[in-house]
Amino acid sequence: MRVLTKITPETINWGELGFGYIDTGKKFRAYYKDGEWSEGRIETEKNVFISEASTALHYGQQAFEGMKAYRTKTGEIQFFRPELNAQRLIDSAEKLLMPAYPEEDFIKAIHEVVRANVEWVPPYESGATLYIRPLLIGIGDTVGVQPANEFLFTVFVTPVGPYFKGGMAPTKFLVSDFDRAAPRGTGAQKVGGNYASSYLPGKLAKDQGYSDAIYLDPVTHTKIEEVGSANFFGITKDKKFVTPKSPSILPSITKRSLIWLAENRLGLEVVEGDVYVDELDQFSETGAMGTAAVIAPISSITYGDKEFTYTDGVEVGEVTQRLYAELVGIQKGDVEAPKGWIQ
Ligand code: COI
Repeated sequence: MRVLTKITPETINWGELGFGYIDTGKKFRAYYKDGEWSEGRIETEKNVFISEASTALHYGQQAFEGMKAYRTKTGEIQFFRPELNAQRLIDSAEKLLMPAYPEEDFIKAIHEVVRANVEWVPPYESGATLYIRPLLIGIGDTVGVQPANEFLFTVFVTPVGPYFKGGMAPTKFLVSDFDRAAPRGTGAQKVGGNYASSYLPGKLAKDQGYSDAIYLDPVTHTKIEEVGSANFFGITKDKKFVTPKSPSILPSITKRSLIWLAENRLGLEVVEGDVYVDELDQFSETGAMGTAAVIAPISSITYGDKEFTYTDGVEVGEVTQRLYAELVGIQKGDVEAPKGWIQ
């Protein structure tokens, strides 16, 4: 007979964690009904009991966020620019006709849920972090294609390791034939539909031995947009930090932070603009960046019968390493943060 042992903070192997879900026992939940949000409180049930007619289930009326809590060397717990997540969720809510969950309440909620699960914040030396997943969904009895009039805001946490296998080890990516988002659609919002539509292209890439799919712009199919569920960056041979600008990519908080760090801490010129897929040989380093991915170096990009190679699959480029050290150093409290970045 197989005996299933429940993972606890005492038995967990922090260093072995991948990017998976563990029920940590305490969640924050608030409900929107009759035009107002309930107070919000910590609950212990991981399952959500909602109407079968919920708009989130049928029509994808939902948005989410991804953020982390970091343990410092001295044992304190830090958040990294959480107000930007609050604002982005408000932006996603507006686009899908959902009521905003106010910034101040959002910040209180993440403090409360992390405090309630404090023993699940991985130790500093482990390299793991506590991933925080706020979620806003349309619930209640609505069967027509129209917005719900009841909503749930819920936040759970789960300890995580690297998103891409190998973390900072460079891996290869494949340019997909599929589009991730429509030009005037919801690509710039953090909503589930963008991610569900990336399952098939992601699977096709992974089945061929790649880490994930790279998406081109949906209008001309000539420019890089996203790397799986993360943003793209390249370092040119003359050391410029280049990243795509487009209305259909997600405004990553990691990207916005790396742009600032590249410019102000590394003294690099930053270019946010078109990144043509047939000009990928202008780069000496490339990578993916996002909250979950942090910085994931790319060893090669395959586009049709062309392959652009950046590293031998082992070495991480010098600029990528310096950016990683700055970003993660700030998040874990080892490097001085720009004013207002850390709570
Ligand atoms: C994140 O970087 O937090 C993401 O949202 C990526 C993903 C796990 C959906």
